[in-house]
Amino acid sequence: MKNMKGFPQNFLWGGAIAANQIEGAWNEDGKSIGLSDLFIYRPEADKSKLHSANMTQAEVDFAVNDKDGYYPKRHGIDFYHSYKDDLKYLKEMGFKTLRFSINWARIFPNVEDYTPNKKGLEFYDNFIDEVIKNGMEPIVTILHYEIPLYITEKYQGWKHKDVIDLYEKYGQTLLERYHGKVKYWIAINQINLLHIEPFLSIGTCIDTVENFEEAKYQGVHNQIVGSALLKKFAKEQGYDIQMGTMLADLTAYPENAHPDNVLLAMKHNRLNYFYTDVQFRGEYPGYITRFFNESEIDIKITAEEEALLKENTLDFLAVSYYFSQMVSMELNKEQHVSYSYSSAKKNPFLEVSPWGWAIDSKGFYNCLSQYWDRYQKPILIAENGLGMYDKLENETVNDDYRIEYIKDHLIQLKECIKDGIEIMGFCAWGPIDLVSASTQEMEKRYGFVYVDKDNLGHGTGKRYRKKSFYWYKEVIETNGENL
Ligand code: BG6
Repeated sequence: MKNMKGFPQNFLWGGAIAANQIEGAWNEDGKSIGLSDLFIYRPEADKSKLHSANMTQAEVDFAVNDKDGYYPKRHGIDFYHSYKDDLKYLKEMGFKTLRFSINWARIFPNVEDYTPNKKGLEFYDNFIDEVIKNGMEPIVTILHYEIPLYITEKYQGWKHKDVIDLYEKYGQTLLERYHGKVKYWIAINQINLLHIEPFLSIGTCIDTVENFEEAKYQGVHNQIVGSALLKKFAKEQGYDIQMGTMLADLTAYPENAHPDNVLLAMKHNRLNYFYTDVQFRGEYPGYITRFFNESEIDIKITAEEEALLKENTLDFLAVSYYFSQMVSMELNKEQHVSYSYSSAKKNPFLEVSPWGWAIDSKGFYNCLSQYWDRYQKPILIAENGLGMYDKLENETVNDDYRIEYIKDHLIQLKECIKDGIEIMGFCAWGPIDLVSASTQEMEKRYGFVYVDKDNLGHGTGKRYRKKSFYWYKEVIETNGENL
């Protein structure tokens, strides 16, 4: 019997960050432009306009040549230079793990070069050593919204099969160099965010291809192949590593028990599980090939790729969870969309954050149970947390709302563990404030450590411990016993 009452002794408590949202130093030590560097912050825009999911070629060209705008991810919190001090805060909280990404544009700035950028590698050599020195198990995301711009310009993004080889070369470089220090790897961040973050996920401008839907699904197929190639490489080399895949949880409830709504939710959910169905079971399920046929999406999958996927399924599932969703047949009819594009309808039973994200800790228990029942693969909580406006007062932030949010989610996580679900660890998103992925705001904060910087980059940059800092420290110290 594997069931446990509480968190296992070796539970990986910690946090998660991404290079493009934290490092800054966007043009230092040979780094080239990455797609995240192209997102401007516009103070005058209303909130909904801050989220630019798609980019046109003209918008990309504008950003590349613009000399006036503020591009928050180019600066992050200057972690590239401050990481030694910043890691001390995480150590003080007792972090057992840190999940972070490596920026492709630092390692292969020109993408097609044969040899990697020495300075880029040196930075991550030192950084990884420092993470380990501070007592944390490194978990590396190979690609987290850091596609080099060159891939968009030359190949129109991941849809081109040559990008698989470029990613393979990049990934192999990292595996060869760090396999002795890094055991856990995530091939691609949130591989299922095709419709929510298409540009950052696939790197294709909406106006440079004829069939954008097809380009997105071809792009993600190529990512699935790239991930399997890295798993195969690690296996052949005999590296003692685990290669994971990652979903942003988008599991939806039906609006009510009307069978049409129940089926809508089931189809919506299945469309979000298809990625991991392939990566854990080794083949494309019938429902997705039917969806492709009926949607006139023609994905090029070779027999060799089919065999590769069959033989190289991945090892663990990383999940990010922030909110739950509800789908509605009625709303789909109003918006004239099929199940593949259902937008979320407000769930009357749940409160939402200022960004409209429905707060639902029980949804966490629900989705993790679905994943476990479907795959029986160990699950890493790769991200969870509450983005909020914080107020710095007397050199701290009284962020009881954040404590309550994370506490409620940890209580539900414990429910999963009691059911025997294998949970590897819990990584709170952005343990030190960083730039928002979707809105480019610095002021959408998730951290236990406050960074004095605003949306336009003004501020001292000084760090302050929030109330949640001391709370999370105690959670780790007591292994989550007193929740
Ligand atoms: C996840 C991403 O989707 O959510 C992170 O992996 C991101 O990069 C996080 O920061 C929170 O989203 P946001 O838009 O609030 O930063």
